[in-house]
Amino acid sequence: MIIRNASVLGKAGELERKHIVVEDGVITAIKDQLDAAEEAGELIEAEGKLLIPGLIDMHVHLREPGFEHKETIETGSRSAAKGGFTTIACMPNTRPVTDSPEIVELVKRKAEEAGLVKVLPYAAITKNELGRELTDFAALKAAGAIGFTDDGVGVQSAQMMKDAMRIAAGLDMPVIAHCEDNSLVEGAPVAEGTFADKHGLKGIPNESEAIHVGRDILLAEATGVHYHVCHVSTEQSVRLIRQAKQIGIKVTAEVCPHHLLLSEEDIPGMDANWKMNPPLRSRRDVEACIEGLLDGTLDIIVTDHAPHSAEEKAKGMQLAPFGIVGFETAFPLLYTAFVATGKWDLSLLVQRMTADPARVFRLNTGSLTIGAPADLTLIDLNEEKEVNPETFASKGRNTPFAGWKLKGWPVKTWVDGKEVWTDK
Ligand code: DOR
Ligand code: ZN
Ligand code: ZN
Repeated sequence: MIIRNASVLGKAGELERKHIVVEDGVITAIKDQLDAAEEAGELIEAEGKLLIPGLIDMHVHLREPGFEHKETIETGSRSAAKGGFTTIACMPNTRPVTDSPEIVELVKRKAEEAGLVKVLPYAAITKNELGRELTDFAALKAAGAIGFTDDGVGVQSAQMMKDAMRIAAGLDMPVIAHCEDNSLVEGAPVAEGTFADKHGLKGIPNESEAIHVGRDILLAEATGVHYHVCHVSTEQSVRLIRQAKQIGIKVTAEVCPHHLLLSEEDIPGMDANWKMNPPLRSRRDVEACIEGLLDGTLDIIVTDHAPHSAEEKAKGMQLAPFGIVGFETAFPLLYTAFVATGKWDLSLLVQRMTADPARVFRLNTGSLTIGAPADLTLIDLNEEKEVNPETFASKGRNTPFAGWKLKGWPVKTWVDGKEVWTDK
């Protein structure tokens, strides 16, 4: 297969017109000119379109096993492919929780059966994510888990977290943390701020996140583990991570599109499609997250794709579960808001969604180079379309971005040279 006349990002971030040759699922050449034999082969015309390494999303919820009414590994994989993602890492807050080798293997088998994107399973830190007893890290690693996390809840005990980090460090595995001190949250559905005040709701304070970030940085320093912070949403967390990196502690971090684009002041009313954890914070926090992403304090962008059913989300702001879907809007949202407006270089956005996650999690993908797997995404930077949740491949329709007019839509996605999604 040859992808002809694609616009690709050059070393200095400039766009170059190239032909990409793919053989047996691997990129074998990136050329300026095709020879006669190549011209006669299987050609995909990419004139005027951007070709980038397949996007990588290191934080997603696929809901299987146990919550198939929200999403399955197959529907989630299709949604990812449609959003331009070729590798995704799924969280263990399933039912049963992914806390045993059997469930890790089940997730891998279902992903293979779906045959769409590469699915990397995380395993839980504690059994049933209850924070009481550690899982068997060595067995989970042997089964194929790529890291340990109790995402969905914070690990409340510092001793439990320290033990987890020590064992993970010994196995050369990362610990990935949902940072949340429950004693500071107590059932609040949104962040502290103007929206909570106006509607008489309890507010989630910034410290509930940052206290865990600070605690865990100290524990990472003590244990030497690779510590990765989930969905950073506060100014204080960004500051702590920046300082930790400066003194050489092995910490990396991620941020979600919604925390770069929305603040609690933007919540239009008591609509649970605006409810996620961590919550939308102040404008000041949004600016700090953007600054952190730009200076590399925040290494990567993830969606925290968290589908829920319409019935669950209809329970209202106080009772509905936390979470919004992310795959099918992430790239167009960030492209439209930050790149099309001239605030960010295109290469920065692409890097934070491809090469940087590959670097942080040591993946063999995320770059458009000879010898790399042909995990590729073709993007139309010009056509403007409205976000319409009814057209999502995901079972989830829970997004605050319905109706937004965006550019930068993926039009074709390949995994190991195989087309896994096309818009035509
Ligand atoms: O918004 C969220 N949704 N935050 C979490 O921590 C969990 C996730 C979910 O599983 O729905
Ligand atoms: Zn989380
Ligand atoms: Zn999550």
